[in-house]
Amino acid sequence: MLMKLQLALLVILLLACGFLYQFTLKSSCLFPHLPPYKSQQGLEALLGHGRSIVFLETSERTELSPLVSCAVESAAKVYPEQPVLLLMKGLNSSMQLPPNSTSPALSLLSAIDNVFLFPLDMKSLFEDTPLFSWYTQINSSAERYWLHVSSDASRLAFIWKYGGVYMDTDVISIRPIPEDNFLAAQTSQFSSNGVFGFLPHHPLLWQCMENFVENYNPDIWGHQGPELMTRILRVWCKLRDFQEVSDLKCLNFSFLHPQRFYPISFLEWRRYYEAWDTEPSFNDSYALHLWNHMNQEGRAVVRGSNTLVENLYHKHCPKTYRDLLQGPEGSVTGEQGPGNK
Ligand SMILES: *[C@@H]1O[C@H](CO)[C@@H](O)[C@H](O)[C@H]1NC(C)=O
Ligand SMILES: *[C@@H]1O[C@H](CO)[C@@H](O)[C@H](O)[C@H]1NC(C)=O
Ligand SMILES: *[C@@H]1O[C@H](CO)[C@@H](O)[C@H](O)[C@H]1NC(C)=O
Ligand SMILES: *[C@@H]1O[C@H](CO)[C@@H](O)[C@H](O)[C@H]1NC(C)=O
Ligand SMILES: *[C@@H]1O[C@H](CO)[C@@H](O)[C@H](O)[C@H]1NC(C)=O
Repeated sequence: MLMKLQLALLVILLLACGFLYQFTLKSSCLFPHLPPYKSQQGLEALLGHGRSIVFLETSERTELSPLVSCAVESAAKVYPEQPVLLLMKGLNSSMQLPPNSTSPALSLLSAIDNVFLFPLDMKSLFEDTPLFSWYTQINSSAERYWLHVSSDASRLAFIWKYGGVYMDTDVISIRPIPEDNFLAAQTSQFSSNGVFGFLPHHPLLWQCMENFVENYNPDIWGHQGPELMTRILRVWCKLRDFQEVSDLKCLNFSFLHPQRFYPISFLEWRRYYEAWDTEPSFNDSYALHLWNHMNQEGRAVVRGSNTLVENLYHKHCPKTYRDLLQGPEGSVTGEQGPGNK
């Protein structure tokens, strides 16, 4: 009897929480005084809806480049009703984060209503997935591409567990993706792992995690990344070349045309840093992958340069544009990062 009463009270409390939660996404009902990055419970509550947009930073860095800031801000702008998460290895739960003192980008982002910064705790992320035993056995300091490989693993586990959309930190969102379950084509018959989205517990991602561990090869860059996605995609889908701009349907997910995220191919990445006579409308695209890993020469986004990328920042991440870009005399380069391949 007492237990029933307790149960009833608990249900009422949870309902009340859920109700409040609708109105105050940012403040966690159960932990009202904790900033979101301090409470793992806060994270679980946010993820309950399965509709989050997630970005990962697997290095220890807490300084964010303007490009990372733009990626996160643009997603927050395109998905105002959905939580946008930035999980960072460099934050930890015991840390009292003073966003203002660590990085201007962090304070800019944490001031946006639907942006949430959390520590990336891989061990608990991999729990209950095929990646857990792999992770606990690996000596990460002996791994050549650890930042990339751990990022590849984390995004699979996260989207499998919680659902939502994963994006690299060099992807600028321009309009909502109208699909719940999708992989993105980089070219015909080849999947990227820089953007993908699924509802929770989709078996394709489970299969990816199993294959990740079974065929683990740490010395080949991308083997656990785009190549893994492509291997598994071929199991699920009868692939043919894309003809006009239309997506492929594979069972219960879509394989989205390269125009959706890669309207400018990697060979042409410098086009983003050029001024165009007539800028492309990108009206067949949902987001733009800026190919930051190609940018070894450290091209920067400069205010007043009238380059395509400057205009994209101005339109899609106005706060980053205003606060983080330097004028022509300085230069702020997009840093290299595993999250932005
Ligand atoms: C949190 O980060 C600090 C500074 O990087 C480190 O000294 C500390 O051990 C970390 N704590 C945990 C629980 O990881
Ligand atoms: C950061 O903010 C806190 C509280 O608002 C303030 O006390 C502190 O001086 C600030 N630090 C810097 C470096 O601006
Ligand atoms: C992990 O790898 C590093 C670098 O190769 C090596 O120095 C270290 O001894 C290894 N640790 C273990 C526990 O094997
Ligand atoms: C998609 O299809 C697979 C295989 O038929 C099935 O196991 C899975 O539950 C489906 N997922 C969703 C989200 O519909
Ligand atoms: C996209 O833009 C092009 C050129 O600006 C235009 O011809 C085309 O009709 C547009 N497509 C859609 C779907 O709006």
